[in-house]
Amino acid sequence: MSEEWAPKGVDPTVPNPARVYDYLLGGKDNFKADRDVAEGVLRVLPETRQATRMYRRMVGRFVEYLVGQGVRQFLDLGSGLPTHQNVHEVAPPDARVVYVDNDPVVCTHGRALLAEPDRVVMVEADARDVDGILIEARKHLDLEQPVAVLMLFLLHFVPDEQDPYAMVAAYRDALVPGSYLVISHTAGDTDPERMGRLVDNYRQTGTPFRPRSAAEIMPFFGDFELIPPGLANGVTHEWPFGDEQDTMFWDEKWSKLSYSGIARKP
Ligand SMILES: C[S@@+](CC[C@H](N)C(=O)[O-])C[C@H]1O[C@@H](n2cnc3c(N)ncnc32)[C@H](O)[C@@H]1O
Repeated sequence: MSEEWAPKGVDPTVPNPARVYDYLLGGKDNFKADRDVAEGVLRVLPETRQATRMYRRMVGRFVEYLVGQGVRQFLDLGSGLPTHQNVHEVAPPDARVVYVDNDPVVCTHGRALLAEPDRVVMVEADARDVDGILIEARKHLDLEQPVAVLMLFLLHFVPDEQDPYAMVAAYRDALVPGSYLVISHTAGDTDPERMGRLVDNYRQTGTPFRPRSAAEIMPFFGDFELIPPGLANGVTHEWPFGDEQDTMFWDEKWSKLSYSGIARKP
């Protein structure tokens, strides 16, 4: 993406997590500053590019599973730039999806690509503003019915001092029984040496990056019930909703980078 393209208010010389991720996924919506950070990520964790692509396929599986449970409403926080396996593309036509991201580039692109304004909306907001986001969500979703809240590689951008636990609890409290919380989070405990280097690399984005251990991630689910296999390490074949092709999701190297869990409000 040419530096001249930058929307008003976006400084292309300041790297941004959404655009770094876009570059890792092979997208074109990124600037040199983002590519430099992404190349730094790849130097530390060369498997990241493949892992992010496989991960997006797993997101498709998450959504298929939730749809199979009857969920027709999705709140995708920190949705990122439109890529393949977007939630609204995997969910059936009667599903409603609210995407939220705080990056103006993500939101400009999202709005341009989302052709179904009634069913799928893109909200530019900070996920930490729970009250504000719930007001927006209520315009499009019925919070008296089950909703799946997705926080996919979002929470590692919320440092401890900003109390991510209170934030996630506020979302959980707003949901009715039968709702779901899906979290994917960078793992802080499986490869601490390389994760430490990644934290240093991300520091350049001006955005704090906080990988967490399994023990630190578990409390985000509160009293929600994790579905088997529970909080699973990485892009895993263990999710119970696949077919024989699931083995393609499994690789020992990628499995170390993250944790994912799907939990249901009892
Ligand atoms: C690594 S990307 C993940 C994208 C997508 N959820 C996925 O897992 O494929 C993280 C996204 O979270 C967004 N983000 C980071 N902090 C945020 C915040 N406080 N509120 C809303 N979005 C945020 C970034 O702009 C970026 O698009």
